[in-house]
Amino acid sequence: MSTGPNSSQVPAPIGGPDASLVRDIAARTGFAPAFIWDKYARLRVSPASDLQPLIEQLLVQETFFFRHTRQWQMLRDMLGNAQPASVTAWCAGCATGEEAWSLAYLLADMRIARASILATDISPVAVATARTGRYHRMAAMGSFRDLPAFASAAFPTRQGEVWTAPANLRAIVSFDVHNLMDNPPTELPRQAVDLVFCRNTLIYFSQAAAARVLRHLAGVMRPGGLLLLGTAETAGGSPLFEPVHGDDTVLWRRTATPLSDDVA
Ligand SMILES: C[S@@+](CC[C@H](N)C(=O)[O-])C[C@H]1O[C@@H](n2cnc3c(N)ncnc32)[C@H](O)[C@@H]1O
Repeated sequence: MSTGPNSSQVPAPIGGPDASLVRDIAARTGFAPAFIWDKYARLRVSPASDLQPLIEQLLVQETFFFRHTRQWQMLRDMLGNAQPASVTAWCAGCATGEEAWSLAYLLADMRIARASILATDISPVAVATARTGRYHRMAAMGSFRDLPAFASAAFPTRQGEVWTAPANLRAIVSFDVHNLMDNPPTELPRQAVDLVFCRNTLIYFSQAAAARVLRHLAGVMRPGGLLLLGTAETAGGSPLFEPVHGDDTVLWRRTATPLSDDVA
């Protein structure tokens, strides 16, 4: 990633975690050491003997339905033009599920005959919430804070309303715990996934870890498949992806470049 708190040169703050703990967390999650120091200091993370509860405290899980509306609009236009009979998708770093349910809604709304979405996150807590498929309309910062016009009628608009994923969307999506630093989930076909979302996740990663994850994503995608990153993230510089520019937004297309040891 070209942006984000990536430097591993940041000096350790007094009172923060020791350097070996930061190294362990960075190796497990991919997070940039500077991000770990910063989060640790600001959150006053409680010590834990196991890494996973510590990592849970460091995760940033902000998300909402149809986040980055322009990307959704562009994707909708591209799918409308291509009219695919089937779409296989991976939502990587799905947090509490709003992104995966948004995609399920879009694919169902576009009448794509065969759609399947695997949505994954490192956090078992977030994945459990995502699986419930139940979301309250809350005040300004809730799950439904910025709905595009094409979806607004199907989602709550009034305070206190609850959205529950309908059966036709539940048939499309499944959720699982998965760490992006590991090889991609075995359920995903290699070189055949049409669509990958990995948004607002790599921004917290070191450059080396982000490059590793992009290789993992590229490994499951078919040439021509689309990758959606967050607005502060980029796959620029990797021969595995090329930008597709839209109206004030960008998606990334998997190139035909094969994965090999010398391709970053
Ligand atoms: C800010 S949320 C983004 C959610 C959603 N993609 C969006 O853009 O709205 C980042 C998510 O990445 C997850 N995450 C962080 N490190 C991860 C890793 N190594 N493997 C899988 N998920 C990770 C976090 O748990 C969190 O839910």
